[in-house]
This record gives sequence, C-alpha cells and structure tokens, in this order.
Amino acid sequence: MNRTLYGNLIFELSKKGRKGYSLPEDYDRTHSTAELPEALRRKEAARLPECDELTVVRHYTNLSHNNFGVNDGFYPLGSCTMKYNPVINEELAGLKAFAGLHPLQPAETCQGALEVYYNLQESLAELAGLSQFTLNPCAGAHGELTGLMVIRAYHESRGDVRTKVLIPDSAHGTNPASAAVCGLEVVEVKSDANGTVDLDDLKRLVQQEGPNIAAMMMTNPNTLGIFEPHVLEITTLVHEAGGLMYYDGANLNALLGEARPGDMGFDVMHINLHKTFSTPHGGGGPGSGPVGVRKGLEAFLPMPRVVEIPAEGEDEGCFKVDWGTSVDGERGSEIAVGSFFGNFGVMLKAYAYILSLGREHIKEVGPLAVLNANYIKERLKDDYLLPIHGVCKHEVVFDGLVDKSTGVTTMDVAKRLLDYGYHAPTIYFPLLFHESLMIEPTENESKETLDGFIDVMHRIAQEAKSDPELVKTAPHDTPIGRVDDVLAAKQALTTYWKSIE
Ligand SMILES: Cc1ncc(COP(=O)(O)O)c(C=O)c1O
Repeated sequence: MNRTLYGNLIFELSKKGRKGYSLPEDYDRTHSTAELPEALRRKEAARLPECDELTVVRHYTNLSHNNFGVNDGFYPLGSCTMKYNPVINEELAGLKAFAGLHPLQPAETCQGALEVYYNLQESLAELAGLSQFTLNPCAGAHGELTGLMVIRAYHESRGDVRTKVLIPDSAHGTNPASAAVCGLEVVEVKSDANGTVDLDDLKRLVQQEGPNIAAMMMTNPNTLGIFEPHVLEITTLVHEAGGLMYYDGANLNALLGEARPGDMGFDVMHINLHKTFSTPHGGGGPGSGPVGVRKGLEAFLPMPRVVEIPAEGEDEGCFKVDWGTSVDGERGSEIAVGSFFGNFGVMLKAYAYILSLGREHIKEVGPLAVLNANYIKERLKDDYLLPIHGVCKHEVVFDGLVDKSTGVTTMDVAKRLLDYGYHAPTIYFPLLFHESLMIEPTENESKETLDGFIDVMHRIAQEAKSDPELVKTAPHDTPIGRVDDVLAAKQALTTYWKSIE
C-alpha cells in the first residue's frame, strides 16, 4: 500500500473536476432535492473532495489498515473491556428477520424478537439476583442515569427529598457524571490502603449526611479489580440511613453465575452488555446498559417492557409490549431516557452468548477471567509495581515500572507496546495511583496470547533500563509517531477544509 500517497487526507487527494461516477446526460439533478422546502436547500454546492474511484477506495482501505480492533490482536484494555465477539453472534444479529425490524411494528408480527427480548430480561434478572430489568438504555452511563432516575423517583414517591450520592474515589468517572446529570450531589468516599472502601470514612459520611443520602454507587469488584470484603456491611449501613444501593455492573465477568449483586444487598444496577456479554466496547459503537431493580422497585423502571401474556389466556406463549403507567398515573415512559427499545443487535448477541454457554458453563467465565488476570499479575510484578497485593479479580492495576530511575512512564510503556503490535492497556485510571496501568485479559484469551504479551512487557521493562530514549520516543513503527495529546485536546481540529484554504 502506498501510504505516502493514499494515506493523505481525502481533501489533499482532491483534484478539481475529477469524479468517480458517470450519470446519464439527461439525468435530472434537481430530482433528489425537489421535495425539500426551499429554505432547506443548499445555496451553493457542498465543498466535497473530488476524486476518482480508485483513489477513494485505496484511501479508505489504507485508513482501515491503520485500525486496531479486538479481531486484530490482544487488546488488554482494563475497565473498558474489549470482549471476544463470536462470529456466530454477529451472524445472528445480522439476520434480516431481526435487522429489518421496526420498533413500532405490531407485536403479532415480531413475536420471535419479543421472545428474545423477554428471555434476555429474565436471564439478566436471574444472573443479577434482581426482580426485573429494562433493556432500554444504550450504554453503561445511560444505564447509570436511568438507575439514578429510578432511585430519585422512588424517594419522591415517598415524599422524601434526598439529594446526595455517595461514590468511592476509585469509581469510574461516569458515576459522578451521571449523578450530576441527574441533579444529585456527589459525596466522595475514601479508599483505604487495600484499595477498598474505607469503612470509617463511610460511617462518618453516613452519620454526617444521614437523611440526605439518596444512594451509594459501587463497583464490585472495584476498578482496581478488588472484591469489596465488607460489601454486606456497606449495604446495611446505607440501607439503615434510608438510601438505596446502586451497583455499577459494567464489568460482571468476574462474578458471572457465581455471585449476584441482588444477594449482596444492591437495589438497582446496570450491566454493560457490550463488555460482559460479547459485544466489544469502545470506538463509539452501539452499546447496551440494561437496568435491573429489586422487588418493590419495578414500578419505577422506564417503559415500555416486553411481557409474557398470562398462561390462561388465549394467546398463551405470546409476548406483548407493555407501555405501562408510572406510579403517578402517567405513562411510565415519563421517566424513560432515550430510545425505548435500546440497541437490539447488542441484545441478540448477549442472548446468543448466554445460550451458547448455558447455565452450567456460564459459571466458568468468572474463574477464567480471574485466573488470566492473576497470571499476568504474578508474571509481571517483578518489573511492574504492584501497589496492592493479594488476589485480584478480572483486572490488575500496576503503578508503572518498578524501576522509575530512567524516567520511563506508563505512557511510554503504552506507546512502546504499539510497536510490538499490541493495543495499549488502560492508563492513568484509576486515579488512585500516579502511573496506573490497568490490564484486563478477559476469560477468552489463550495462555500463548498472554505469554506473548508478558514477554513483550518484560522486554519493554529491559529497554527502559538499557535504552530509555527508545521507549520515551515510541511508537516508531506505526503510521503516525507520538502525537501531542495536550495540543490535540486544546486545539481539536475536526474539519480539515478550513486549514487548507
Ligand atoms: C466501571 C464502569 N462503569 C461505567 C462505565 C460506562 O460504560 P459506557 O462506556 O458504556 O457508558 C464503564 C465503561 O467503561 C466502566 O468501566
């Protein structure tokens, strides 16, 4: 591939008058815009690049080769897990009978899809130990907002005004953001030396905020990959103060089929189907953040829901869409956010994943995810600083290199990994350590893949000692070298046109 030529921006490849199509001479150019109201029509032609077909195809093929996805190689991103996506799931989700559905289609014409939807709601409720799920939210953060709105509606229904949300300092950034968007005030709970919730700090805050506490949001295992040993004490403390417990179940890999948030005392939770259930996360692709609630909170879930028609009725074995009414008599969708059926394709993949594992094998996910993370932890801990010892769950966090004398940072290690054909792990998150380097292998990777990655991490640690400049100036073998992140954030240039005028 001629990267020098076709790797240029499409605007740089543009030559006035060049085109990649030919239309009949009598083609009516006004035809396609004829029905647009005058006010909406362009006054002058759009300034589009003008290229021949081969240039366009080569340019975009070239660009696609610069991508790195979970199907290209090991992608050890922690927290924003990149999951294995079995090809069969993609094929199922792409079936015309599913892909061509319309959300407002009459229920009798899409019984199969409604059955999948219903069964997934039920499966998630069973896996979570909760009463009911809505599949409407389209991402984890969307689920958090929905869940917090459910909690707010619950308190309001009791005439109880509560405005504070307790959130551990190790939480994912979306937790405080969702609370703020929901109009709630964030109160930070400190972590202790083990990286888990500092119980004394929590007790002090519960004492201080008491009747103002709407909820506490928790991730368990937390973002350091550590299971909260005092989770039952925490949920009891918050419940005694009248607050609800929210479980951020973005990453359920470590617990799947083994432990259930409902049994730990959580009232409301979301799950990222695009992390735990086989759709890769990230890249702005479609997501799904179903929200579940314990018994007694079902009325606060957004509508619509898919329900099974009772067995005695004529339509036994059928499913319908329940548009519902909320507690104050309005349609339940008053508290719904976003599209009302969510991203159905992601749900199909999740359901296929659950069915293909089955009730027995789904229990193997957690131990394998934990084994893989601990294998990496044990084999890298001599070169990479392990701030918290003991067994981690699905992910492991290092605090940069053990030997920091040559000034090589976590950012440098991450960039050097690109030269070796690996995607970088999550870096500088969680914020508890200065040089956080977070690795999540997931349950799907083979020992050979993990060994290959570990060898490269060791090699980079050696390079950091013997030739630090090599690591500090990486990457060297990628189409673009080290970019200036700060400049990119400060001067985001999202349109090129202006800059070449
Ligand atoms: C712990 C945790 N919570 C919430 C989220 C938010 O999920 P989403 O990116 O789908 O909004 C993530 C995402 O990476 C996460 O790791």
